[in-house]
Amino acid sequence: MKHRITQNDLLRRLPQERLSLLRELGNLADEGGVALYLVGGVVRDLLLKRENWDLDLTVEGDGIAFARLVADRYRAGLAVFERFATARLEFPDGLKLDIATTRRESYAQPAVLPTVQPASIEEDLYRRDFTINAIAMQLNSGQFGRLLDVYRGRRDLRARTIRVLHAGSFQDDPTRIFRAIRFEQRFGFRLERTTARLLAQAASTNLIQQLSGPRLQNEILLLFAEHDPVRAIARLRQLKLLRFLHRCLCYTTKVKRVVTAVPKAFSWWARRFPDSVIDRPIVYLMALSSESSAVVVAAMIRRLVLSREQAKNVSAGGRWVDRALKRLTNKGTVRPSQVYRLLEDFSSEVLVLLLAKQVSAQHGVRLSLLKRHLVAYVKNKAIKTALTGRDLQAMGLRPGPQYKIILGKLLEARIDGMIKTEADERAFVQNHWV
Ligand code: CTP
Repeated sequence: MKHRITQNDLLRRLPQERLSLLRELGNLADEGGVALYLVGGVVRDLLLKRENWDLDLTVEGDGIAFARLVADRYRAGLAVFERFATARLEFPDGLKLDIATTRRESYAQPAVLPTVQPASIEEDLYRRDFTINAIAMQLNSGQFGRLLDVYRGRRDLRARTIRVLHAGSFQDDPTRIFRAIRFEQRFGFRLERTTARLLAQAASTNLIQQLSGPRLQNEILLLFAEHDPVRAIARLRQLKLLRFLHRCLCYTTKVKRVVTAVPKAFSWWARRFPDSVIDRPIVYLMALSSESSAVVVAAMIRRLVLSREQAKNVSAGGRWVDRALKRLTNKGTVRPSQVYRLLEDFSSEVLVLLLAKQVSAQHGVRLSLLKRHLVAYVKNKAIKTALTGRDLQAMGLRPGPQYKIILGKLLEARIDGMIKTEADERAFVQNHWV
């Protein structure tokens, strides 16, 4: 980063329509007699020349009243959260904007959400997680673009360091332990020495245990949604934080290999099946727990309050995957229909994990075999039988559970290429069941 960035350089990094909107909001703040600031990640990212479209605004004065003014002027939708003195606006073009009121926070207990009281912008910045996230940019017309950097966030951006603002920061909000790792990994920054010590101290206590399930889940999945979760996981391990997912989560060499193989599995999958949408963070969680017992995995799912779908994936990640993998990569032929049956209950996430496991086993021949099976399987998934239950009825078969069996057998025969047309299907049914 350049040493001196002028106000104009910084503002030019904003897209034109955003810049005009911010100017207009600054004028509106003058009208309303309040001071208006852009704060948090967006200011940090402007300084780092990174794109960030989350416009977080904070008002020194009455944030909700200002949000009402903006909503009226722009015919924007408005949701007000009185308890936090914040509001969310949705503009007619879909743009969302959060407006807060500058505040100080007090924490009745560690790890719970704070109570808030109005305060100055300096105090508001002081309650934040790291100096790099505690820079504000004023938007009022006379001061437009003025940076307020009371805690020397720009110095830390230049030095590429993550620094807390005060010693109680991780105690106040243990999610900051994960946030520190997230920013450290994302920007390739380092924890400043005292911050590293405070973090290690906080991580060695049971503070994180007091976090609610949804908050912990959010932090873990956000971390795994970053560009390089493999390094983030290594960092979690180094800081002995994996125990907060489950104290018996086993991070063996084998697990490490699987986790490390996930990016390769993703890139192969994305090349082969570009339209497939994968919940990437969950795959990392699956890889991480792939050698843990079903009991440990179930407890981890409960701790993180995973959704039903996420839970289904994570619990399939262990035994079932290994069984399928063994069958698919052992010597001896497996018919396409058998591959289909082995994999049909697996989501794409589970299939990527399966692949990652084989990548990690470093057995080239078996890996190529598995890839061939996967390609064939995805193609075969589109195959349907021509006959339906109604046709079976018309052929004189009595409705009942056997329909499922017959249609299943027809599908398998189709997948194996034994029958190709509707006439073949009819003949097949005639020969076996009528
Ligand atoms: N913040 C904080 N402590 C937290 C969470 C948030 O102090 N536990 C403050 C920081 O100033 C942060 C801002 O709230 O910049 C907005 O939070 P969030 O949107 O979560 O973070 P960003 O910094 O915007 O990060 P990202 O780029 O990941 O969205």
